[in-house]
Amino acid sequence: MSAMISWKLFCLVSSLMGGLLLFPFRVSSADPDLLQDFCVADFNASISVNGFPCKPADEVNSDDFFFDGLSKEGNTSNMFGWSVTAANVLAFPGLNTLGISMNRVDFAPGGLNPPHSHPRASETGVVIKGKLLVGFVTTSNMFVVPRGLVHFQINVGKGKALLFTAFNSQLPGSAVAATTLFASKPSIPNEVLTKAFQVDDDVIKNIKSKFGS
Ligand SMILES: *[C@@H]1O[C@H](CO)[C@@H](O)[C@H](O)[C@H]1NC(C)=O
Ligand SMILES: *[C@@H]1O[C@H](CO)[C@@H](O)[C@H](O)[C@H]1NC(C)=O
Repeated sequence: MSAMISWKLFCLVSSLMGGLLLFPFRVSSADPDLLQDFCVADFNASISVNGFPCKPADEVNSDDFFFDGLSKEGNTSNMFGWSVTAANVLAFPGLNTLGISMNRVDFAPGGLNPPHSHPRASETGVVIKGKLLVGFVTTSNMFVVPRGLVHFQINVGKGKALLFTAFNSQLPGSAVAATTLFASKPSIPNEVLTKAFQVDDDVIKNIKSKFGS
């Protein structure tokens, strides 16, 4: 039943976003295959490549392959009541070229991971604690979101919720619909948004003000 509701909600979100806007973006890129055993990211390298250059092998040590950032609960005191702790290549340089990453997502009661999409990765997640309504195909406490599709999670339980997600990209990217549309710099003209959502200018101004734009 809840999978059915989720599916309906997904359809609603999908048709709202897909019908009125350029969402969901369907993309066909993926992280490239490995050509060597490892390539720990060197963020200081002066050259730019697609990904990050490798740290010299003689400077790589075991610490480069461990990350403890996901053990800490995130701060959910914000407008959405949620927190994402990313273990992507920027936080964990050992992931460079490996085509994988994870996030920890904490939810306060009622907390929402707002509708967003990952342009470079499919996502799978497992709910460790609490009860989430997931705006895509759900099976038991685990779910999957195909690459590029808009999705969300909201805490519908009484207490906190905890979710771990995994991605088939070292840097999945995240296009959050609300901030992309209403807090971009430069700002999307109100004329575009009033037409896209079929609402008055005041509504758009009001939404933009909530996102500080
Ligand atoms: C990059 O530079 C910072 C200081 O600017 C240094 O702490 C860090 O170790 C350097 N990283 C690598 C991979 O060389
Ligand atoms: C959590 O974030 C809020 C808002 O940014 C801040 O006021 C508060 O001090 C933070 N709490 C902790 C424990 O860091």
